[in-house]
Amino acid sequence: MDINKIGVIGAGQMGNGIAHVMALAGYQVLLNDISQDAIDGALATIGKNLDRQVSRGKLSEDEKAAALGNISTTVQLPDLGQTDLVIEAATERETLKTAIFEDLVPHLQPHTILTSNTSSISITRLASRTDRPERFMGFHFMNPVPVMQLVELIRGIATDKETFETCLGVVEKLGKTAASAEDFPAFIVNRILMPMINEAVYTLYEGVGSVKSIDQSLKLGANHPMGPLELADFIGLDTCLAIMNVLHDGLADTKYRPCPLLTKYVEAGWLGRKTQRGFYDYRGDEPVPTR
Ligand code: CAA
Repeated sequence: MDINKIGVIGAGQMGNGIAHVMALAGYQVLLNDISQDAIDGALATIGKNLDRQVSRGKLSEDEKAAALGNISTTVQLPDLGQTDLVIEAATERETLKTAIFEDLVPHLQPHTILTSNTSSISITRLASRTDRPERFMGFHFMNPVPVMQLVELIRGIATDKETFETCLGVVEKLGKTAASAEDFPAFIVNRILMPMINEAVYTLYEGVGSVKSIDQSLKLGANHPMGPLELADFIGLDTCLAIMNVLHDGLADTKYRPCPLLTKYVEAGWLGRKTQRGFYDYRGDEPVPTR
């Protein structure tokens, strides 16, 4: 199936990255959010990240202009009805995602493929709330989307072969690599990554190390590009907690219990970089550990 127009729901951290890479690959992108401010912020971020690629010699000014020209925006969800593929990248809350799908589905063309960038929620369950479980699947990007090579593709129990192959074709056109994952809680990347991050928070909670020593240990001792606490701030502590809860509920194993300290940071509204405070305080020139 030919994909030309792609709808992206949610102009946050993931949505703007997805719009960026799709537009750069030549797709017509329609970026949607309920907030015009969020859309304006996303366009500014995309412009900044494209500039960064131009300054590093990865893109020409013409390619940047063409990518920006491929993006249009709307605050009206029904406008996405005219697209061939929709990628939902709203906040990681199942009730919100199902409400969006219920509002959108009556406006979709019959051939449109509906996907979710969910990092952990059951694709089969999300699909069952739509009119097209066979044309529904998980399309999971990693952050920062323009840089990370991997996209996880997750089939629900009803996803048909054509839907999977069409999405695989899109990933290939982006120049990225797809990993096919089965539909179990948190799929592959987060099934492994989040327990590691949660364990790093336990290591901090139990006083085994400080924020600085934990991050330094994994950077210098395991060659990770970011320490686990720095990475948690980068992903968003609310997202990390939501994924741990999905693992804990979905796999019913106490080894996935979220660390109480992670819960406390989220309760405080210290969600990481996006709120300027998490395991580090980002309000000054340099990030300063908060513990
Ligand atoms: N857009 C475009 N380019 C970007 C970018 C962005 N948002 N962010 C960084 N870059 C580019 C830079 O321009 C730079 O390009 P060159 O190699 O051409 O110079 C390159 O990426 C490296 O960036 P920096 O030099 O600024 O910084 P760095 O070397 O410290 O790398 C990083 C930054 C790529 C984010 C690196 O720290 C990293 O890989 N961190 C781990 C990220 C990770 O694990 N992500 C997965 C999170 S899990 C997830 O996303 C799944 C989920 O569901 C939660």
